Amino acid sequence: MSISWTQKDLLEIYDLTAAEIELILDTAEEFKKVCLRNVKKVPALRGKTVVNFFIEPSTRTRVSFELAEQRLSADIINMSGSVSSLTKGETLLDTVKNIEALQADIIVMRHSAPGAHMLIAKHIKCGVINAGDGSHGHPTQALLDVFTIREKFGSLKGLNVSIIGDILHSRVARSDMWALLKLGANVTFAGPATLCPREFEEVGVRVCHNLKDALVDADVVNLLRIQHERQADGFFPSTGEYSQFFGLNRDSAQFLKPDALVMHPGPINRDIELSSAIADGPQSVILEQVSNGMAVRMAVLFLTAGAL
Ligand code: CP
Repeated sequence: MSISWTQKDLLEIYDLTAAEIELILDTAEEFKKVCLRNVKKVPALRGKTVVNFFIEPSTRTRVSFELAEQRLSADIINMSGSVSSLTKGETLLDTVKNIEALQADIIVMRHSAPGAHMLIAKHIKCGVINAGDGSHGHPTQALLDVFTIREKFGSLKGLNVSIIGDILHSRVARSDMWALLKLGANVTFAGPATLCPREFEEVGVRVCHNLKDALVDADVVNLLRIQHERQADGFFPSTGEYSQFFGLNRDSAQFLKPDALVMHPGPINRDIELSSAIADGPQSVILEQVSNGMAVRMAVLFLTAGAL
């Protein structure tokens, strides 16, 4: 059954059906072909204006959104929180209403406050794309993660995917979880008990507090960074101890299946959650994730622009 895209915003993966996720992935496959051509540009967003509004730091998401917009021939404005009038006391809502008054069509925003995107999407006609909201969600990261897995395995149905690390503070873990479950994968969360709550069992995730258990049957392992910027308290005694019990390195990687994929959303804290030997080794698809991010973001921009 063919479906069409009707949503002006991409706020969180939870809102999407499996068919809508597959539509984004199929569309991204077509845009990946464009990214591999000599002329990597199509006129799909000609005449549309996209504002990239990043109030938190970013390398991968920001650069790949901007490249995706360029390849779709959009007009682009880049803004960061520190150079906007937010610093003078303007509210977020007033800021985005002013951006809308300047005839922007789509706002791609990263914000530290969970739910900030839902608030603004209700009050403006522009499309709103969530490029990360606090520890709540990072939908385009989840889409590029499942795109990369689908590209390698053909389908996610029945695959075992283990996400390891600071689950508590991770927007990637939450968005990945919904994308993976909706596409039929089995999801395991693993980490120290203080960073890997059992509450996720209620939505069908296996939760374990032992690295070996998370590795032995995994088709994919996705390592997460310890998010010190979101941690008020010490959740484990030291990074050395964390690395010893939950780091993927030459010793712990012996439990991996030989064809298991190693993923990481970045930025990597090398030799804490992931050793350089594994991050740069043959099972790693970390830089493929980054490359796929551009095609996935082209697909999201294309589909949401079509619904405006
Ligand atoms: N994965 C990710 O969101 O990376 P950036 O913070 O660099 O965008």
